[in-house]
Amino acid sequence: SEPIRVALLGCGTVGGEVARLLTEQAGELAARAGAPVELAGIAVRRPDKHPELPPELLTADAAKLVTAEDVDVVVELIGGIEPTRTWLLDALRAGKSVVTANKALLSEHSAELSEAADASGADLYFEAAVAGAIPLLRPLRESLAGDRITRVMGIVNGTTNYILSAMDSTGAGYAEALDEASRLGYAEADPTADVDGYDAASKAAILASLAFHTRVTAADVHREGIAAVTASDIAAAKMLNRTVKLLAICERVTSEDGGESVSARVHPVMIPRAHQLAGVSGAFNAVYVEADAAGELMFYGQGAGGAPTASAVLGDLVAVARNRVLGGLGPRESAHAGLPVRPMGQT
Ligand code: HSE
Repeated sequence: SEPIRVALLGCGTVGGEVARLLTEQAGELAARAGAPVELAGIAVRRPDKHPELPPELLTADAAKLVTAEDVDVVVELIGGIEPTRTWLLDALRAGKSVVTANKALLSEHSAELSEAADASGADLYFEAAVAGAIPLLRPLRESLAGDRITRVMGIVNGTTNYILSAMDSTGAGYAEALDEASRLGYAEADPTADVDGYDAASKAAILASLAFHTRVTAADVHREGIAAVTASDIAAAKMLNRTVKLLAICERVTSEDGGESVSARVHPVMIPRAHQLAGVSGAFNAVYVEADAAGELMFYGQGAGGAPTASAVLGDLVAVARNRVLGGLGPRESAHAGLPVRPMGQT
């Protein structure tokens, strides 16, 4: 088959790994996709800062790259809302499939993005946006599509989990633990997005939207971060045989009149040490899913970092490449039933 040509936007912690694996595993990826998967270009802010990349692929002109004639798929690993939103909408409208890890963008603009994808018959995949390497969105979108999910709950931010684990196990200071999480490539460019719960709230919005077939945005998610958690809170939790975890909790709520709505929230919770989530430490994430027929499921693995997140990106890339080769499309989010979202604070 004709090669599938990929435009990579951003070449930082995750993008660098994606570029490396695309080259190193070209043979395997081609076999699984049914066609060679090739880099058509890499857009970075400062091409002169990337001597490690082939100069002929580098460009500072992302706007031009995303709609280039010979590009089939755009992989976006820049983050932020604008100009990324405009680039991805342009790409989708031009019929390019999009793979993105951009949770902030998806948690605000997924309706617009999926409508653009539907209109042009392109794919929109975003497994890497939530819980890094853990296959979680594909199960929600596909494997559980025949079930009725009632709850999605877990640890979805590696940085805060790293900090809380360090405070619990070694009594490490907050600042020291945060520095280490940043050094290991877990934290966002602006780590306040992690510690104040914005990152987890974006992920909760994405999870709730997929699980309950509705549209939840980050603004609908009640949010409380870990900045106010002190060493004495952790010590008090220990006395009670508990530990503190930042949880994202998304639920289907039935009111007294039988009406259904969706609630999503992120806040620190003191959980018993015997609870499985208490044993999730470092940059690991773990998410429980409860569904009527399936019962309880648990997803666990590395939720942050360059290589684990690149694994999810490459999985999506193979899926969209295969869809192109076979002339099919991935799951659609356009047919949402539209369960109402509970106003913030009413949990
Ligand atoms: N900053 C995020 C985290 C990266 O710490 O979980 C993965 O989304």
